Amino acid sequence: MRLASLYVAATVLYHACGLALPQPGSTKFGYLASGDRGIRALQNRAANPTLEQERANAVKDAFTFAWNGYFSNCKGQDELEPVSNTCLNPRNNWGASAVDALSTALVMEIQDIVTDILDYIPTIDFTTSTTSVSLFETTIRYLAGMLSGYSLLSEGILNVTGSVANIKALLTQSQSLADSLSFAFDSPTGIPSNSIYLNSRSTGGESVNSLATIGTLVLEWQHLSDLTGNGTYGALAQKAESYLLNPEPTYNEPFPGLVGSTISISNGAFLDATGGWNGGDDSFYEYLIKMYVYDSSRFGIYRDRWILAANSTMKYLTSNPSSRPDLTFLASYVNTTFVNASQHLTCFDGGNFLLGGSVLKRQDYIDFGLALVNGCHDTYTSTLTRIGPEAFSWDTTGVDASNQAFYNANGFYITNAFYDLRPEVIESYYYAYRITGNTMYQDWAWDAFVAINATTRVNNGFSAISDVNAAHGGSFDNVQESFLFAEVMKYSYLIHAPDAPFQVNNDCENQWVFNTEAHPLKVVGPPI
Ligand SMILES: *[C@@H]1O[C@H](CO)[C@@H](O)[C@H](O)[C@H]1NC(C)=O
Ligand SMILES: *[C@@H]1O[C@H](CO)[C@@H](O)[C@H](O)[C@H]1NC(C)=O
Ligand SMILES: *[C@@H]1O[C@H](CO)[C@@H](O)[C@H](O)[C@H]1NC(C)=O
Ligand SMILES: *[C@@H]1O[C@H](CO)[C@@H](O)[C@H](O)[C@H]1NC(C)=O
Ligand SMILES: *[C@@H]1O[C@H](CO)[C@@H](O)[C@H](O)[C@H]1NC(C)=O
Ligand SMILES: *[C@@H]1O[C@H](CO)[C@@H](O)[C@H](O)[C@H]1NC(C)=O
Repeated sequence: MRLASLYVAATVLYHACGLALPQPGSTKFGYLASGDRGIRALQNRAANPTLEQERANAVKDAFTFAWNGYFSNCKGQDELEPVSNTCLNPRNNWGASAVDALSTALVMEIQDIVTDILDYIPTIDFTTSTTSVSLFETTIRYLAGMLSGYSLLSEGILNVTGSVANIKALLTQSQSLADSLSFAFDSPTGIPSNSIYLNSRSTGGESVNSLATIGTLVLEWQHLSDLTGNGTYGALAQKAESYLLNPEPTYNEPFPGLVGSTISISNGAFLDATGGWNGGDDSFYEYLIKMYVYDSSRFGIYRDRWILAANSTMKYLTSNPSSRPDLTFLASYVNTTFVNASQHLTCFDGGNFLLGGSVLKRQDYIDFGLALVNGCHDTYTSTLTRIGPEAFSWDTTGVDASNQAFYNANGFYITNAFYDLRPEVIESYYYAYRITGNTMYQDWAWDAFVAINATTRVNNGFSAISDVNAAHGGSFDNVQESFLFAEVMKYSYLIHAPDAPFQVNNDCENQWVFNTEAHPLKVVGPPI
């Protein structure tokens, strides 16, 4: 059944989840100041059923274009540098863009690209790298990319295939990768170092690791254990996570569930009380609820910690800019002092509240998630390119002659104008659409995608740009991160694509859960 075809379809699904459906004309979407527009869009959509397919196909075309540019120029290397048409290897020189693109090519059902990637992955030697390896980046991009591909192909739910040998190799290569990374966890506490050197099996000698880089391993490593039947991997990640779930000392948990950012590898203590949902902390909170979606029978304590953090976030971190009190952003904190600044990275927050609200049947989390989605939408529609900045602020002490008019109109000002091809705003539109059925979010995602395609496309790919609020995005930065393939393209596509088992559901029975790099992983637990 198409979720969005008819308003009545959304009604049924909403009720299945035990949530009250916002009635047409009600103020449920009132803080969006666009409830009527949403309803009209739904009616228009019913009258124009081919629009979604046209949009999905246009995203597929853009993905194919970028894939061809990368693969013909940089096969075996990590990234295409689109301006100079050269290659860059910041991700261990194992072909990051190919592994990160696999699950997107699969859900788009593009057989030729799937075959190219499946033929390539068995040739990677995960036991050696001449560069420093990030445990976090390697886990979320490579390990999750291969595990996702393995399940998507094994479940027989797609109209694309691979050879039995190539499908099996996705799992054996995942195990080979985890086996070469796992010495990172050899510390007195079991908390890993994030920077490691495979060839010498040594760490960078750091004494600390951060909240997100410790707390964004457990889904992937546990999944590897569940798929292989070898519990070692999940046990390593869960041991490290245990320090985050039982934070010490208590003064570095300044609000219930909201913790500091820096953790001692030698004793597991939190060393500060600085935090929030920004980069460095972000996906720790994201994975608390996703672990519960992954297996509600084993990870109830992760849910409890997410609820604690979510309640405190709504109570303490909700921030409405003085010039635009209709907007909602999340403040961060230094001890109990609030900082009115946020980031593009943080804009996954709306989607995460929507997911939590949907699976926990909590309308207040859903409403709060939609308010956050609306704030992040404002960061896109306020700029010249209609793409949002890397970092922004609504701290009134930083308002001066240069940004006063912009702040008054838009409720924030830009503190870093870069755009790195990040997905979080479109990602949250995706959750908003899948969970409410309101096609306004499809329109927002399409507008963002058209802007990204118009501004960042260059030669054979897409490039980060220097200034979202300058004509043509300022200048090209000559970088195309692999998450363009994994995330921007996938969420931009799936929001318009037909219903499928791997799509986010609002019936509380998600069969898949997306890791922080947008790789769908097969849920193993019973329905919640
Ligand atoms: C499945 O793929 C084949 C060949 O790639 C194509 O001809 C067919 O139309 C596809 N079917 C669906 C339902 O997409
Ligand atoms: C599980 O994996 C670890 C790491 O590769 C290995 O040392 C161990 O022997 C494996 N255990 C079993 C039961 O296969
Ligand atoms: C979270 O907030 C809800 C609604 O106010 C409340 O029912 C629940 O007890 C709170 N849970 C925790 C752990 O604070
Ligand atoms: C931060 O935002 C809050 C509104 O949520 C406001 O009350 C406070 O004055 C702001 N602080 C600064 C320094 O801008
Ligand atoms: C935070 O509070 C601790 C005491 O709990 C104090 O030692 C530290 O200096 C404070 N940090 C900042 C940045 O104010
Ligand atoms: C993306 O840009 C290309 C090249 O300008 C254009 O042909 C294509 O139609 C654009 N796609 C979208 C969705 O705007």
